[in-house]
Amino acid sequence: MVGHVVNPAGERSGATGSGGRRSRSSTSQFGTLGLHIADPRVESSVLGLLDSVEADLRSSVASADPFVTEAARHLVEAGGKRFRPLLVALGAQFGDPAGPQVVPAAVVMELTHLATLYHDDVMDEAAVRRGAPSANSRWTNSVAILVGDYLFARAADIAADLGPEAVRLQARTFARLVQGQIAETVGPRAGDDPVEHYLRVIADKTGSLIATSARFGGMFGGAAQEHVEALAGYGETVGVAFQLSDDLLDIASESTQSGKTPGTDLREGVPTLPVLYALAADDSDAASVRLREILATGALSDDALHAEALGLLRESPALKRARETVRSYAEDARARLAPLPQSPARHALESLCDFVADRTS
Ligand code: IPE
Ligand code: IPE
Ligand code: MG
Ligand code: MG
Repeated sequence: MVGHVVNPAGERSGATGSGGRRSRSSTSQFGTLGLHIADPRVESSVLGLLDSVEADLRSSVASADPFVTEAARHLVEAGGKRFRPLLVALGAQFGDPAGPQVVPAAVVMELTHLATLYHDDVMDEAAVRRGAPSANSRWTNSVAILVGDYLFARAADIAADLGPEAVRLQARTFARLVQGQIAETVGPRAGDDPVEHYLRVIADKTGSLIATSARFGGMFGGAAQEHVEALAGYGETVGVAFQLSDDLLDIASESTQSGKTPGTDLREGVPTLPVLYALAADDSDAASVRLREILATGALSDDALHAEALGLLRESPALKRARETVRSYAEDARARLAPLPQSPARHALESLCDFVADRTS
């Protein structure tokens, strides 16, 4: 059974409920992504594509072994924002969204994302994901790793039907994503600027897949090459803003909003942007001095210190500064849409920039 932990209202837009299927209501589907699609025909096309993706996600992870099916469906059914399939569906609006390869392309992107979540929760020792127990906490690390591998294999199988270019793009995207995760794990080299390192990490681990999702939409919808490139550039930049805002939510949100355990990055010693800004701040106030003192100990597995650091970070100038950085990436993403024709789909992509910038304020 899934979805029996907290249902995070904010982040589980169109969440699936007990049946694992989404309702076809635009308000519930898009509401918490701040998305408005003005044209009913485009809205209906996007919703129809997402409905098909939903059905195919469930069927594509089915295995002859009922346990594998259950473990692979676990996070599919727990919901999630379906941000990557949404970008495929919106990107396809710049060509022919009814093209037969659009839905499988979106399924490949979401399965790849899903696989990284199974693995990421092992690395981050996370107990909760999408408001449900993470696979590693529900079963074991080994099960979570192997099911993640299974999901990658399923994604590759479906990509094969899309042709060699899709397989190559998926493989290269995944290689870049993993190298981002490795760089995060290893940390900056001596002499590297920590903020630059961090921004490179998130472009690789998150921007890469979101860029390819927007690219796949344009590509498999048959959009003009110039538009495909604009979509990919937008996806990369909005993806960085998306990860930055996710990192801010890790500090600022309640788990009911994110469906995850707040403070995980701090506990795991992942120095996200607010922490890096706090470490670089001058000693202008007592709270910043104390925060830097705690961060420098590196002992954030201690519950009391962790809670104190989280409280100080929530009120810190560093968090405010990081919010401004998110906003500037969101604005950059919006600017990258310039080559695309003014259209309901372009406006929807613009509204996603506002969603990403505003969800942390
Ligand atoms: C989580 O991605 C990992 C990040 C890149 C921040 P999402 O925030 O898209 O997670 P789901 O799919 O909605 O669960
Ligand atoms: C997730 O990074 C990125 C990928 C899974 C590639 P995080 O560790 O920051 O994401 P959350 O917060 O667990 O979703
Ligand atoms: Mg994580
Ligand atoms: Mg991580």
